[in-house]
Amino acid sequence: MSSPAQAGRKKRVFSGMQPSGEAHLGNYLGALRPWVQLQREYDCVFCIVDDHAITAGGNPADMPKNVVDLAVSFLAVGLDPEQAIIFVQSDVPEHTELAWLFNAVTPVGDLERMTQYKDKAQHFESIPAGILNYPILQAADILLYKGEAVPVGEDQRQHLELTRDIARKFNAAYGETFPETEALIDKGVGRILGLDGEAKMSKSLGNTVGILAEPDEVWGRVRTAVTDPQRVRRDDPGRPEVCNVFTLHGHFTDAETRADIEVKCRAGEIGCVDCKRILSDNIAEAFGPIRERAAHYRAHPEEVRRTLQEGAERARAIARETMSEVREKMGLDWRSAIV
Ligand code: TYM
Repeated sequence: MSSPAQAGRKKRVFSGMQPSGEAHLGNYLGALRPWVQLQREYDCVFCIVDDHAITAGGNPADMPKNVVDLAVSFLAVGLDPEQAIIFVQSDVPEHTELAWLFNAVTPVGDLERMTQYKDKAQHFESIPAGILNYPILQAADILLYKGEAVPVGEDQRQHLELTRDIARKFNAAYGETFPETEALIDKGVGRILGLDGEAKMSKSLGNTVGILAEPDEVWGRVRTAVTDPQRVRRDDPGRPEVCNVFTLHGHFTDAETRADIEVKCRAGEIGCVDCKRILSDNIAEAFGPIRERAAHYRAHPEEVRRTLQEGAERARAIARETMSEVREKMGLDWRSAIV
């Protein structure tokens, strides 16, 4: 992405996260940490996407707690309402309105091709239309703010390609309106594996470590992590290159300690439990300041509420402007035709 200075104005960055409770390491490394960096340089809009979280039913009664937990995570990692707009999707009804209009330019075949749709659909006998239409709402989120760049993990790449297609189709049908959004995916952290060492770290798979977990909770999770399956006894030589615990060390442990662990693991001189202990301690330490800030926001829910209210107002102002342009371009401003 060209720098804002080159572009002459700040580029608009948009991204979102589902409220399924506090954020986990994958969310943090793949999204939240880059968001904190980007907010300093770009015109950033960050959204808690509660409407996405109910596309397959879910339990709406969990929503208030989950939204607040995620808002606390956002603020605790350092997202700053002075620098970025932080808000909840359902506070801005224009998201669902634009998604409805995008239905008109989105082929069902494109939606059926989405890997996430295919994965999720397997779990249903009767597939909710919400999981098919999910990426249309995601495109609406981004394009409502004319988002030019979207920092996400690798799992969202296909949805962002669809967003570009929708923008292109809309522009071709109704005139130039939306930018072609660029996906910002950080190679090393775009796909953090879960503690099972096989699948993407994901709340629904129960293979996560929460970023706000207390040190003993972190240990309770990390000690269950799968390591090199060929290593059975403590003195068996290990293969760090196939071990997800070693990969996770790459994000939390200094280079010297990692080099030492690598040599000792290959020689069967350090056991997996000891190796996990070091990782667990380093994760707990890295998130110490974030846990402290989270405790502050938990004790001051009025600050969280105010941030979300102010964020929603700022988001609505942009959303209204885009929607009036969209309605005009599509010829939907029929009220003005009635004299
Ligand atoms: P969600 O809520 O599943 O995840 C939020 C962000 O975290 C990233 N992420 C990961 N990155 C690396 N490794 C992992 N294991 C990992 N797990 C999650 C995701 O890639 C994402 O960036 N559909 C989106 C939410 C959304 C959105 C949007 C995103 C709705 N509208 C508009 C961007 C723009 C989702 O379910 O993300």
